[in-house]
Amino acid sequence: MIEIETKRLLLRPMVPADVEPHIQMMQNEEVAANLTDTGKVRDRGTEWRAAASMLGHWQIREFGFFSVFEKQSGAWVGRVGPWQPEGWPALEVGWGISHDHWGKGYAPEAALASIHWVFQEFPKLDKVISVIEPNNHNSQAVAKKVGEHKSTEKFSLWQFKLDIWKVDRQDWYAKFGAQF
Ligand SMILES: CC(C)(COP(=O)(O)OP(=O)(O)OC[C@H]1O[C@@H](n2cnc3c(N)ncnc32)[C@H](O)[C@@H]1OP(=O)(O)O)[C@@H](O)C(=O)NCCC(=O)NCCS
Repeated sequence: MIEIETKRLLLRPMVPADVEPHIQMMQNEEVAANLTDTGKVRDRGTEWRAAASMLGHWQIREFGFFSVFEKQSGAWVGRVGPWQPEGWPALEVGWGISHDHWGKGYAPEAALASIHWVFQEFPKLDKVISVIEPNNHNSQAVAKKVGEHKSTEKFSLWQFKLDIWKVDRQDWYAKFGAQF
């Protein structure tokens, strides 16, 4: 099993035991606002299927979201990592953190480790993207912290027209390579 350790966090691929904490995370209105097709909290069955697609992504692609745990408490705090379902514009690193743990810098800490893992795992990959709703300022703050910039490209998903944020391998290593 892949395991990635950062200063405060442990990351490992999502497994069936993570479905329940993921459903719980998604029951929060502010988390759901930017992660669901409706922009609202969805029923448990819909969220079960959404989490199942994240486990399935690992089966199909051999990469996918990592569950993120706080080292100190062992708590499951969210899911961060690479994501590229059919039709996606490129390999994305995405993030979602349980509302109780917002504002601790966990998303950028886990995303930096994920981007490093992705660039190591896929030596020919020249960039990583994140698709972000124009009003999602929290997510844009994370994108900036991990070295991404907003491109002029858009991605249409559901009723949303998302901005494509991106960072090139070379630029990312110039900025963050010394940390790894
Ligand atoms: C986006 C998200 C993952 C950020 O996670 P995080 O671990 O809190 O990240 P950070 O601690 O770096 O905080 C990022 C920004 O969120 C905002 N923020 C932090 N704590 C907050 C809180 N309690 N309430 C509201 N906003 C808060 C701040 O603007 C912060 O930026 P700053 O550090 O420059 O001030 C988290 O807000 C989340 O899960 N949002 C819902 C899901 C989502 O939008 N995912 C991305 C889809 S593209």
